[in-house]
Amino acid sequence: MAEKIKNFINGKWIDALDGRTLKSINPADTSDIVGIIPRSGQNDIDMAVAAARKAYEKWRLTPAPRRGEIILRAAEMICKTKQELGELVTREMGKVLPEGLGDVQEAIDMAYYMGSEGRRLSGETVPSELPDKDCKSIRVPIGVFALITPWNFPTAIPAWKMFPSLVCGNTVVFKPSIYTPVCATSLVKIIAEAGIPDGVLNLVHGTGEEIGEYLATHPDIDGVSFTGSTAVGEKLARMCSALDKEISCEMGGKNAIIVMDDAKLELAVEGTIWGGFGTTGQRCTATSRVVAHEAVYNKFLDMLTKAASRLRLGSGLSKTTDVGPVINESQMQKILNYIDIGIKEGAKLIMGGKAYKKGPCAKGYFIEPTIFADVQPNMHIAQEEIFGPVVSVIKTKKMEDAIKIVNDVKYGLSSAIYTQDVNNSAIAERDLDTGLVYINASTIGAEIQLPFGGTKKSGLGHREAGGRGGAIDMFTKWKVIYRDYSGRLQKAQIDKE
Ligand code: UN1
Repeated sequence: MAEKIKNFINGKWIDALDGRTLKSINPADTSDIVGIIPRSGQNDIDMAVAAARKAYEKWRLTPAPRRGEIILRAAEMICKTKQELGELVTREMGKVLPEGLGDVQEAIDMAYYMGSEGRRLSGETVPSELPDKDCKSIRVPIGVFALITPWNFPTAIPAWKMFPSLVCGNTVVFKPSIYTPVCATSLVKIIAEAGIPDGVLNLVHGTGEEIGEYLATHPDIDGVSFTGSTAVGEKLARMCSALDKEISCEMGGKNAIIVMDDAKLELAVEGTIWGGFGTTGQRCTATSRVVAHEAVYNKFLDMLTKAASRLRLGSGLSKTTDVGPVINESQMQKILNYIDIGIKEGAKLIMGGKAYKKGPCAKGYFIEPTIFADVQPNMHIAQEEIFGPVVSVIKTKKMEDAIKIVNDVKYGLSSAIYTQDVNNSAIAERDLDTGLVYINASTIGAEIQLPFGGTKKSGLGHREAGGRGGAIDMFTKWKVIYRDYSGRLQKAQIDKE
């Protein structure tokens, strides 16, 4: 049954002002319409931004621990609906149910983490060089934030952005992907029920083309947090910088696993299957390349192909499915096109490579798990983000070369090395130029209590998620307070005995 969903503006659930709608469709079965959503226009954005602006003065003065309590309440409520929400993530986005539940768990983790940040948003106090004077730095909110999120983590990524922005005292206009609007709405409903005041959190559905840029560059928006493609992120970043707006972007990846000659091959194979075909390869952290040492190359390929051939395609809601669909027709075409390019470039297609339409997959966007061998590092399939179930395996002679190959792409989000050698591990840790480095683990599965993001074209601005240098930096700015209680004019740098 299609759910009729609405925008949430100033505490009210309303349709788009001009009544237009869009459909959200189950990618595993396109006859299943998950939701009818408002196709908002610029006037809906204006209304949402105005509501967020109006609510800001009161919200910024609400004590941070009180703001955090609302988020902690939401965390409890998400826990209670985890199963139902996880199933919705799977139905609307396609990932298999254990991953749908994992997506929701990541939102819960973030809610608990950020809810408790309300009691920690600390700055510094340092001594003054002058008598009877004190100095401190405090974190203050930035203002009204635009949060623009993708479809691949329909609850986790919105949670990564909403909870820290709110606990820090910002108000929000949230525009989720049109491919996962029902998931986004469910999350906002919970936060509304948890007691978020009217206007503090606003949700507007609609296409990136029609309202994304308009929202990000709106004169009453102070900051933007975007996750999506590098092309869109860079464009928004340029426009927002010209307007002196804060912006952070989490963008593409071309992540790789290095498999050394001393690696535990079973583990490396499992890590590649999980990182390459988990979420049908649709993570920005997905394992898109494997750089394998020549001594184990053939054996690794053989084991990898055997393991991949056991993967079963289907609806993520079915217990027997290992790999779900890709999100939509255009992504499917884009991925198939990359497979074509790989073949034309002379990479060896050793598995998969085609759309899959058999049996229960007839009405969905399915692609066979695909492996290319003998890939050259400079081929398009080894350089560009594919965002689908395609793994390219590259042969190397030594670790230094492998590290160079991993680094020699325009992205720098995640990388991994499988080795038993402590020295190899230390060198890789030092030299891999990515925001995340995994040792004896796959390229996916970052935990929320540490900063998340990448170098080069993978990330701009602040990192997401927790820890020092994470989202709290994204959603606050520093203010420094000097208080002079000497009762006389004191001159820093000049009054020196
Ligand atoms: C993404 O693909 O945009 O590390 C985020 C991971 C997940 C988050 C991925 N925790 O794979």
